[in-house]
Amino acid sequence: MIIERQEQVTDAVLAAMSETGHPRLAVIMDSLVRHLHDFAREVRLTEPEFEQAIGAVVALGHLTTATHNEVVLAADVLGLSTLVCLMNNGPTGNTETAAALLGPFWRMHSPVTPNGDSIVRSPTPGEALTVRCVVRDVDGAPVEGAVVDVWQASPVGMYENQDPDQADMNLRGQFTTDGEGRFWFSSVKPAGYPVPTHGIVGTLLAAQKRAPLRPAHIHFLIHKPGFKTLVSQVFVDDEEQLHADVVFGVTRSLVGKLDRGDDGLSLIHAFVLAPGEAILPKPPIS
Ligand code: BEZ
Ligand code: FE
Repeated sequence: MIIERQEQVTDAVLAAMSETGHPRLAVIMDSLVRHLHDFAREVRLTEPEFEQAIGAVVALGHLTTATHNEVVLAADVLGLSTLVCLMNNGPTGNTETAAALLGPFWRMHSPVTPNGDSIVRSPTPGEALTVRCVVRDVDGAPVEGAVVDVWQASPVGMYENQDPDQADMNLRGQFTTDGEGRFWFSSVKPAGYPVPTHGIVGTLLAAQKRAPLRPAHIHFLIHKPGFKTLVSQVFVDDEEQLHADVVFGVTRSLVGKLDRGDDGLSLIHAFVLAPGEAILPKPPIS
């Protein structure tokens, strides 16, 4: 078709894509084009603004390296990661543990660590913390042999890959649940930290007057064939900080319980895995 007016552009594009062979790609691209065009019309996007938007996408790519993923960070602060996570994970009628976004800092090949060992691999400030967890299925039976990746930021506010003062893989580890579904390790009490602000995402957050902060948490990725992989986080911060997560990752059931006993501070948490496919996400960094 020959386009005469802006109103016709959307139909022209939809018609051009109408022979798409892959049905799911057809649905996604059709909807994407309609929403993008509606968005441009709604805000009456100007040409300088359009150029700026293209520049932002280019910057997202340029800022993404093997050790930093600005694209994931952008999806996170826009709430898209949490939206996709919550749409695709419970509540399904099962009692599985709520999922939370993966974030940009999961690395594969965390050091395999025996239960009871520490994930502190170089001098790290913070109060000593023992983490004791159990993994069960939806019927309450312990899940033995689940592989659990854990990772957390140092209380200095950075993950080890952001901080030359931390040993490689500091505060990361991979555990395997025992016959009673348990895994446990020692660490330090996590602190809240700022997400990286050196790039285009930081510029956006500043323009929106948003604090770049995440409340204190530990990440868990639990994987065993026959179960849906669980990507989650347990939060240990106080109420005030929990309301101000820049990436919207906090859900009530993921607020962990800290217990101060005779043997120090412990975090005790139970995870429930739903039956399903054990698919691992793509690591955002290497
Ligand atoms: C994190 O929790 O590691 C994280 C999540 C989203 C953005 C930045 C960091
Ligand atoms: Fe984190």
